[in-house]
Amino acid sequence: MKNIAQVVPTRLTAHVAHAPATGPCALVLFGATGDLAKRKLVPALYNLAVEEALPETFALVGFSRSATSGDVLRGLQREALEHFSRRQPVDEVVWDNLSPRISAVPGAVDDPAAYAALRAELERIDQENGVRCNRLFYCATPASVFPSILRQLAGVGLISKASQEVARDGARPWARVIVEKPFGRDLESARALNAQCLEVIDEEQIYRIDHYLGKETVQNILVFRFANTIFEPLWNRNHVDHVEITMAEEIDVEGRGSFYEETGVIRDIVQNHLLQMLALCAMEPPVSFEAEEIRDMKAQVLRSLRPLAGYDVEEKVVRGQYEGYRDEKGVAPGSCTPTYVALTAHIDNWRWQGVPFYLRAGKALARRVTEISFHFRQIPFCLFGEENVCKRIDANVLKLRIQPDEGISLRFASKVPGDGLDIGGVNMNFRYADAFDRPAPEAYERLLLDCMRGDATLFARRDEVELSWKYVQPILADWECGRHASVPLYARGSEGPKEATALVRATGHAWERLA
Ligand code: BG6
Repeated sequence: MKNIAQVVPTRLTAHVAHAPATGPCALVLFGATGDLAKRKLVPALYNLAVEEALPETFALVGFSRSATSGDVLRGLQREALEHFSRRQPVDEVVWDNLSPRISAVPGAVDDPAAYAALRAELERIDQENGVRCNRLFYCATPASVFPSILRQLAGVGLISKASQEVARDGARPWARVIVEKPFGRDLESARALNAQCLEVIDEEQIYRIDHYLGKETVQNILVFRFANTIFEPLWNRNHVDHVEITMAEEIDVEGRGSFYEETGVIRDIVQNHLLQMLALCAMEPPVSFEAEEIRDMKAQVLRSLRPLAGYDVEEKVVRGQYEGYRDEKGVAPGSCTPTYVALTAHIDNWRWQGVPFYLRAGKALARRVTEISFHFRQIPFCLFGEENVCKRIDANVLKLRIQPDEGISLRFASKVPGDGLDIGGVNMNFRYADAFDRPAPEAYERLLLDCMRGDATLFARRDEVELSWKYVQPILADWECGRHASVPLYARGSEGPKEATALVRATGHAWERLA
């Protein structure tokens, strides 16, 4: 397939730099020395500092058992930047400006004394800055400890319900909490977790993170759909034959065996990243771009997902495990934890009735690629004489490439030059890297900043999270009830288990190739 055209942006909207974050802010990071902090959060904060997007009065307080002092924490964070920042080398001026604003509160998440120390540290920061900082608490910890963290924070008066505070004193600074995915382990625990959170804070103070929503290309799904007029008339059952959403990873569990044993691909990827992408692709146009309007439309899609009955799980959901997973550290020798899933989802609404949405995700696959392909209907009638010419005409495919090689392509048929009538498929291709003169920020940069600004558009609301759990619950129940003594294995670096190929072949379709 050749790229026959390059898209050039005709008129860029104003070069929109990060809008400044609101007011002074202290960010408290629970799990400050963990993997997420090292790989994503600290680099994101540093890159925001490079872009001068952090509030002028900003402090980062790392809460963890292992960062026993500010010096230790700063050392670890500097090391993390050298490994994981998207900008290299680390800018000494920026670091010299940022590092004095980083401090540590050593302690365990269930130790009340550590929270008293945290409170004292935040008060010290307020005093030294001469302003009372807004406070952002980031729980980069397992979901099971969120309730304990929230209770302890409430116990020392560091968080409370905004609605009640406003009633007493409208001028108080804000306190918000970011919680990492997966939010709960299943529907019941997610509901319980939501209820526990809402005992101490209001829904508007909870920012449930799904870093896929912070990716430029995922945000572009809405811009693509609603800032162009030519696609929307095609965006329905009349023109779309089926939709494929793939999130394939080349990496394996990378030493996180014990975490993955608890999680598996459904909790790790499907309940959040895949269903959020599906919701953005399938939702109705919102009334405006306000957070609640967009979340309402996404929730509507999730509510319209056809529930999977017990037998559907067998017919419509395929699982797999890469060979060698059981040898990973922290993995049980006979583990059936799936590292791969492929499933067929249906959306029971006017727009999408009868259009299968094929979803797949997995680790240790042939290639790292996340993309959403809209496969349009075949031509209705063969005009080109011989039937075998028409058989070679591929249906149009619109591909939203989330990563890597971020962009959008449209596949259509073209006459192959020469005598006779030969028809070939060609691609019209837009690549972010060619079209725009600035690299896309990392998802966490955008999300941290949005939270400081109080913009919840790119965070999942309570009902979205619960609806997603509700959808995957029958899969979890079926796979975890011990009915399956084994799981199909697939070779590392392959396309996944052969059962996934059979799943879509049964309806006359095929996955886009990974290799
Ligand atoms: C995380 C999962 O949410 O997403 C990881 O926990 C996965 O298992 C990661 O590797 C993939 O994110 P990205 O941004 O690299 O596609």
